[in-house]
Amino acid sequence: MSTHPAPRPRVTIGGLAEKKAAAEPIVMVTAYDHPSARIAEDAGVDLVLVGDSAAMTVLGYDSTVPVTVDEMIMLTAAVRRGLSTPLLVGDLPFGSYEASDAIAVATAQRFVKEAGCDLVKLERGGTTVDRARAIVAAGIPVVGHVGLTPQTATSLGGYRAQGRTAEAALALIDDALALQNAGCTMLVIEAVPSEVTALLVERLRIPTIGIGAGADVDGQVLVWHDLLGIGEGPKARFVKRYADLRAAALAGVAEYAGEVRSGAYPAPEHTYGMPAGEVTRLKELLDGR
Ligand code: KIV
Repeated sequence: MSTHPAPRPRVTIGGLAEKKAAAEPIVMVTAYDHPSARIAEDAGVDLVLVGDSAAMTVLGYDSTVPVTVDEMIMLTAAVRRGLSTPLLVGDLPFGSYEASDAIAVATAQRFVKEAGCDLVKLERGGTTVDRARAIVAAGIPVVGHVGLTPQTATSLGGYRAQGRTAEAALALIDDALALQNAGCTMLVIEAVPSEVTALLVERLRIPTIGIGAGADVDGQVLVWHDLLGIGEGPKARFVKRYADLRAAALAGVAEYAGEVRSGAYPAPEHTYGMPAGEVTRLKELLDGR
């Protein structure tokens, strides 16, 4: 029996709007490599984000700030090669789009040309609104990101929920509306009180994807390593673990190490052999030298 699900039609941007209109939840997940993309594909998700969370999840940096465009493009292209159905969103890293519209468009074009992205994502309101407008005008669909924006976490007071006062929530709502008016296709809302999310979402036309923003959104996204329990350390309040792959991987590698040390691995079934006659002949050839 095939372990592969039946092929399904490619997800489209129009299809996401239809899902929103039909109140059908949109499923997004991050991924950073080809095998993960293959799993996301077969699990039937709607969107895959190669988030700049890759900086921390797979590259070992202590924040998302240091990751480069080249690093992100290498990871994103690997994910592209594993996907045929979900939409692929590339995350423009810190410092790759803020300085000018021209730089933002050039970076977004690299993500489309070199990594095969369908959409690109950038963080914050403020000057990012202009950058989003410029990228949209260049023909590339854009996903906005408000609330906790990890690229500028330091100026937000750390990795903490945003929009917890009326004034802060109003500013967040204004940023989101400005991103929609700039032509964004979709909005990620991260670590925001659910009351603020509800008031924001009812004012938006575009689909919204929450991460720590409650249930009043059109879809959810989780970071691959968080949802599968691969990472170490404490998890954010909004993370639900659906597997404990770190424990399974640790047990597997420890067992392998034990078997190599005890000689239990490799066993005969893991070993190649030679026809007996060939062994005899080889010995003769060696002896005749
Ligand atoms: O980088 C990332 O993974 C993200 C998601 C958390 C939305 O931006």
